[in-house]
Amino acid sequence: MKPIDYTVMPCSSSDVFAAKLQKPAGLGDDWLEPTQRHYNVEEHRVWDHLYKRQMDILKGRACDQFFSGLKQLDFDAGGVPDFNKSNEILKSITGWTIVPVPMLIPDHVFFYHLANRRFPTGNFIRKPDQLDYIEEPDVFHDAFGHVPLLTDPAFAHYMEAYGKAGWKAIQYNHLKALSALYWYTVEFGLINSEAGLRIYGAGILSSAEESVFALEAKSPNRIHLNVDRVMRTDYKIDDLQQSYFVIDSFEELFKLTEERPFDNIYQNIGASFQYAPSATLDTDHIYTRGTQEYALRGGHASDANPV
Ligand SMILES: [Fe+2]
Repeated sequence: MKPIDYTVMPCSSSDVFAAKLQKPAGLGDDWLEPTQRHYNVEEHRVWDHLYKRQMDILKGRACDQFFSGLKQLDFDAGGVPDFNKSNEILKSITGWTIVPVPMLIPDHVFFYHLANRRFPTGNFIRKPDQLDYIEEPDVFHDAFGHVPLLTDPAFAHYMEAYGKAGWKAIQYNHLKALSALYWYTVEFGLINSEAGLRIYGAGILSSAEESVFALEAKSPNRIHLNVDRVMRTDYKIDDLQQSYFVIDSFEELFKLTEERPFDNIYQNIGASFQYAPSATLDTDHIYTRGTQEYALRGGHASDANPV
């Protein structure tokens, strides 16, 4: 079989089941905006407010690699970081760059950028009345939550491998299964450290409420990552998670993914998820079996306490 050329965008026809997104006028097939936008004083202030709030909460909760990345990238200089400056540093460390996009981009375009070590980053920033929740990833979620870990060589390697895995997910028409892996690792992953569990998922790192809930609440399950199992597990996109998956190291994360031939998974899974977000299995290595109280009381929609 011909080796895949990852410098060419994968083909995604209308036969592949994916969410339809309307591309804004003037953008090419890569969905990239020509430059980072210019942020006004109020927008920089939103970044500074969120940055300070998260830094206070994440002390003793986020993994060391995250703090090391922030420092290397000089993200505490104040205001939304200048992508050009960040890219000079990031590129010299792991070869990754940040590229501005206007909104969520289609899966096949996302895979294409990751496979080539480019991280698509929301160009806009949330409004002051959206500090706690925003549907589409903005520059705070993307740059603060995702980019620092791209300075870690093992994590950087995993992200590229994840992008390359997209070609096979498209071929088998199982994008949702691969998205679940991203969700439970890159967005909501926890990592063991000598000092205890720590956060590395960007969805948690960029959320004040979930930074505490993910580690300390009694509701959610905390389970060791099993790639096959996670790719069969449903997830909630608009509320605190019912299960978090834990890794020992980024090297382990890369190995678990790299060693598992996804063909076997795609050939053996159905069109919908096999396990509910709250499920625990006999085969799970469980750190915490959650009470699920928060979800059972109706979650965010019922204003339930995130306990
Ligand atoms: Fe994200």
